[in-house]
Amino acid sequence: MNLSILIELAYLLSAVLFVFGLKRMGSPATAVRGNQLASIAMLIAIVATLGDQAMSGGAINWGVIIAGLAVGGLIGAVAAKTVKMTSMPEMVGIFNGLGGGASAVVAIAEYFRAGGFEGGGAAVSILIGILIGTVTLSGSYIAFAKLSGQMTGNPILFPGQKILNALLFLSALGLGGFMVATEPTNQLVLIFVGIAFVLGILLVIPIGGADMPVVVSLLNSYSGLAAAAAGFVIGNNLLIIAGSLVGAAGLILTQLMCKAMNRSLANVMFAGFGSEGAGPVDIGDRTVRSVDAEQAAMILGYAQSVVFVPGYGLAVAQAQHDLKKLGTLLEDRGITVRYAVHPVAGRMPGHMNVLLAEADVPYPQLFDLDEINDDFPEVDVAVVVGANDVVNPLAHDPNSVIAGMPILDVDKARSCIVMKRSLSPGFAGIDNPLFYAEKTNMFFGSAKESIVDLVKEVRELQ
Ligand code: TAP
Repeated sequence: MNLSILIELAYLLSAVLFVFGLKRMGSPATAVRGNQLASIAMLIAIVATLGDQAMSGGAINWGVIIAGLAVGGLIGAVAAKTVKMTSMPEMVGIFNGLGGGASAVVAIAEYFRAGGFEGGGAAVSILIGILIGTVTLSGSYIAFAKLSGQMTGNPILFPGQKILNALLFLSALGLGGFMVATEPTNQLVLIFVGIAFVLGILLVIPIGGADMPVVVSLLNSYSGLAAAAAGFVIGNNLLIIAGSLVGAAGLILTQLMCKAMNRSLANVMFAGFGSEGAGPVDIGDRTVRSVDAEQAAMILGYAQSVVFVPGYGLAVAQAQHDLKKLGTLLEDRGITVRYAVHPVAGRMPGHMNVLLAEADVPYPQLFDLDEINDDFPEVDVAVVVGANDVVNPLAHDPNSVIAGMPILDVDKARSCIVMKRSLSPGFAGIDNPLFYAEKTNMFFGSAKESIVDLVKEVRELQ
C-alpha cells in the first residue's frame, strides 16, 4: 500500500480513537480507558507525522525531536505522579496554556517560514492561531497563578477595564485586517502577539479564584480552537479534528458549569463575583444546635437511609478515604448509603467524583443532583461534609446572589448533620440558613478529624 495512504489511514484511526476516548471520559467508570485510548491516538498521530515528514523529504532534526519527546514526556509523567488531586485545576490550567502557546508558535513559525502570508486564507488562519493561542497562553498562566495562590484569588478590578479590553480586542482585529490587506512586517506581527498576550491577562484578572474552573475550561476550549487554526495553517486534518473536539468539549463543559451555578458566562467573566470576600457572618439571635462525634454516631446509628453530600471542605481536609470507611461501616449495619454529587461542588469540574473514585466508593452509590433531589424527603440523615453553597436553600430566594442555582435539597431530609469548622460562608460569601434550621445538627471541626472520631463512635455502637 502507498505510504501516503497509510499515513492518512493512521490519522483517521487516530481521529476515531480521540472521539471514542472523549466519549469514555463521560463516566468515571470508563474515564481511565478513555484516557488510554486518547494517549494511543496521540502516539499514532506523532508517529504518522514523523513518517510523513521523513517520506516527503522534510528536514527532520531527530536530535531536537527526541529531546522534545524526552523532556515533554518526563514533565508529563512527573506531574501525573506527583501533583496532588487538590492541585489538578492548576495543572490542567497550565497545560492548556502550553497547548495554546504551542499553536501560536506553530502559526508564527509558519509566517516566518513562508516569509509572509501565502494568500488571504492562510493569513486569516495564522492570525487566528496567534490571537487565540497567545490569549490562551497568558490567560491560562493567570488562572494557574490564581489557583496556586501565587497571586490574589480576588477579582482585580479597575475603572475603564471593560473599555480597555474592548479597545485592545478591536485593535487586534484592526491590525489583523490591516496585515491581511497589505504586506505585513515582522514588527507588526510581533505587536499583534503583544496585544493578544496583554488581552489574555486582562481578560482573566477580573475573575475570582473560585470561578477559575469555568475559565480553565473556557481556555481549554480556546486552546482547541487555536490547535484547529494551526491545523489549517499547516494543512493537517487530524489537528483540525482534534482541535475542534477540544474546542467543542471545552465549550460544552463551560456551559454545563454555568448552568449548574445559574450564572451566565458573561456574569462569570465580567461581574467580579466573589470580590466582596467572605466577611464575618451576622447570626443575630439565631441559635444553632451542635453535636459531638458520639451524638452524631447515635443519629446515624438509628437511620435507615443516609446520604453524604461532599463539598470543597472534604477536598481540603482530604477526608474522602475516612468518609468511605464511615459509609462501609454504616452499610455493614444495614443502612442504605448514597453520595450526592453537585456538578460544581469543590473547585473543579468532577472534583467530588474524582475524590470519591480515589477512595473506591462504588459508582452505583454516586448520584447526580437530578437523580437524588426528589428522594431527600425520604432520607433519614443527610450528612453534609465541607459543602456550603451547593446546599444553601437561599438559592430559592430571588434576591440572593445565588438565586436560581440548582442546589441539593438536604433541607428536605428528615434530619441533617453539617460538618465544617465554623459558621463561615462558602465561596459565594453568603450566610446559610440550613445551619440554623431546627432539624440541622452542626458538627464543628475539620472534616478529617470529625469523620475519624465518628468512625470510632459508630464502631462502638451496639
Ligand atoms: P463552598 O461553598 O466553598 O463551601 C465549602 C465549605 O467547606 C466552607 O464553608 C468551609 O467552612 C468548609 N471547609 C473548609 N475547609 C474545611 C475543612 N478542613 N473541614 C471541614 N470543612 C471545611 O463549597 P461547595 O459547597 O463545594 O460549593 C462550591 C462553590 O464553588 C460554589 O459556590 C460554586 O459555584 C463555586 N464554583 C465551583 C466550580 C466547580 S467547577 N466546582 C466552578 C466555579 C465556582 P468552614 O470554613 O466553616 O470550615
